[in-house]
Amino acid sequence: MRILVTGANGQIGSELVEALRQRHGPEQVVGLDLNPPPTANGPSAAAPFEVMDVRDREALAGVLDRHEIGTIYHLASLLSATGEQHPDRAWDVNMSGLKNVLDLARRRPVDTVFWPSSIAVFGPTTPRDDTPQNTVLDPTTMYGVTKRSGELLCRYYHRRYDLDVRSLRYPGLLSYKTAPGGGTTDYAIDMLTQAAAGEDYTCFLEPDTRLPMMYMPDAIQGTLALMDADADALSVRDSYNAGALSFAPAELAAAIRARVPTFDCHYEPDERQRIAENWPSSVDDTAARTDWDWAPEYDLDALTEDMLHHLRENVRAPGNVGEKKRGR
Ligand code: NAD
Ligand code: SER
Repeated sequence: MRILVTGANGQIGSELVEALRQRHGPEQVVGLDLNPPPTANGPSAAAPFEVMDVRDREALAGVLDRHEIGTIYHLASLLSATGEQHPDRAWDVNMSGLKNVLDLARRRPVDTVFWPSSIAVFGPTTPRDDTPQNTVLDPTTMYGVTKRSGELLCRYYHRRYDLDVRSLRYPGLLSYKTAPGGGTTDYAIDMLTQAAAGEDYTCFLEPDTRLPMMYMPDAIQGTLALMDADADALSVRDSYNAGALSFAPAELAAAIRARVPTFDCHYEPDERQRIAENWPSSVDDTAARTDWDWAPEYDLDALTEDMLHHLRENVRAPGNVGEKKRGR
């Protein structure tokens, strides 16, 4: 049985597909996205890929049958900032896509589904520091509404249909391979990218807006660890909190300045500040650590060092950087 990754061209999908193809072989992992993948080199060049919309249930059913899919990583989604610009589309893509995946999975020989949730499920009345696994969930964005609704749907399909759906509440993810796609936490990648190019940065969040963050290698490792875990060990079937590090824009700017002394950061908060200030500053991920040994590796210094190193390489060879696809 093969593996399907929807949203395969995205910030996470592009790296998850690569990791899965290394593990299982390129022909075992089918990518799916609205557009063809950027030109692939090496073994991935001939790997299977489907260009389609996850809202098209019939086409998705055809993909599952044609490729004999046994595991689905359903990543296709609109993110928080883009979702606030297009709330109707965010509901449609995020909810219809997930419902299609879950309905088709339970009727076909699909054994496991991974679907990512987000810190956007929390809101202004949620405890902001060390946000518990089970707490007040009052999202203020359409993105957060779709993520919390999706969590409940996943748990329902597990209880009602015994579908093995697994989920993580990713925090803001930082990576250098593929540009992020319209999130509120993207400022951190933008700041590092500008610094690597020798430029200053104007941040769209206030300097002291602390948010949970994670480096992409930890996110990929954590996702695979959750999917490798024994089903009986999983006590959370809506979505696991997963913390890694927490920082505010001013703290990231200081970490950069320790390595790029000429770097300066200015602050011009926009509407994304309202989104960010309703999210936690850190999360309690005891359940993930206990149930499936979640253990991220990167702290702020290690992340800053590694990101700057790779982003500088990208500056020297611009063709390596994923095409910018900001939702703004
Ligand atoms: P992204 O925007 O980089 O990629 C999403 C991909 O989905 C894009 O390639 C896009 O073309 C594709 N897509 C969008 N609509 C589609 C449709 N109707 N049919 C098929 N494909 C479609 O997003 P990402 O950062 O890679 O996020 C992946 C998942 O992880 C999303 O569910 C997102 O909510 C979640 N997540 C991401 C972060 C983060 O910081 N990146 C944090 C929390 C949760
Ligand atoms: N990083 C994501 C966003 O900002 C959180 O889900 O939208």
